[in-house]
Amino acid sequence: MTYTNLLYDVEDSIALVTVNRPEKLNPLNIDTVDALDACFTDVASDSGVKAVILTGAGEKAFVAGADINQLTELSVLDGQQWGLRGQQVFSKIENLTKPVIAAVNGYALGGGLELAMSCHIRIASANAKLGQPEVKLGIVPGYGGTQRLPRLVGKGHALEMILTGDPVSAEEAGRIGLVNRVVPLDELIPTARRIASRILENGPVAVALCLQAVNRGMEMPLDAALTFEASQFGLSCATEDIREGTRAFLEKRKAEFVGR
Ligand code: COA
Repeated sequence: MTYTNLLYDVEDSIALVTVNRPEKLNPLNIDTVDALDACFTDVASDSGVKAVILTGAGEKAFVAGADINQLTELSVLDGQQWGLRGQQVFSKIENLTKPVIAAVNGYALGGGLELAMSCHIRIASANAKLGQPEVKLGIVPGYGGTQRLPRLVGKGHALEMILTGDPVSAEEAGRIGLVNRVVPLDELIPTARRIASRILENGPVAVALCLQAVNRGMEMPLDAALTFEASQFGLSCATEDIREGTRAFLEKRKAEFVGR
């Protein structure tokens, strides 16, 4: 598969998607947002891909934001459409029923942090810096930052980051729960691969149902979310994988899941 401004490679059922304009620190222009849309549409239907790692090219940036060149002359309606388009693509990533791990290898600013936050798990390299600097440009985060950041780190930390526009270090991001863990740069992709491989040892239908339970459940009142969880549990009971997983445990052997 080829996509504009993206590198795409599949190894051991894990797709590595790399935003690839390193000389400009991998900013997201409209073509790149469209390419992410196409790429994740293909990933959703490709049975040969079971997990995704998303990263940026080079050693300096994951994604340094939306492409500022495309932001200078937007009308009100253009701006609204621009935001809705990015939000739609990022929601597609969040709602993918295959795990997506962001390997944050440097600056994740503005749309870059918003992209990382639409992934299910975030690993950062020690040199990473994460922030929502939009107010420094006189604009509002427009690809989900005002919503996903407080959901991840709480309102206080989110407002400090959004209102100052100042980035946090990888270490601070780990402390406030913005990234799951921090590793040396050369360990970043291997760590993401190890986490993806661990997930792929598990029942794929159960993994997909868990992603839906957490993603959708977190936006519901607790009562409704618990009912939804019970339905997802019920669905998992209809699979061959539950028979295999429970039998394998009782027979003290490794489960061989078939993913149905
Ligand atoms: N959009 C477009 N181009 C960008 C960009 C962005 N978001 N971020 C970086 N670039 C470009 C720079 O213009 C520069 O291009 P040039 O070499 O043609 O001049 C190149 O990438 C390298 O960036 P530079 O600023 O020279 O690197 P630096 O190490 O001095 O600073 C940053 C790195 C990330 C601190 C700085 O580039 C920056 O603040 N970028 C904008 C971040 C931002 O506000 N993002 C939110 C957008 S809504």
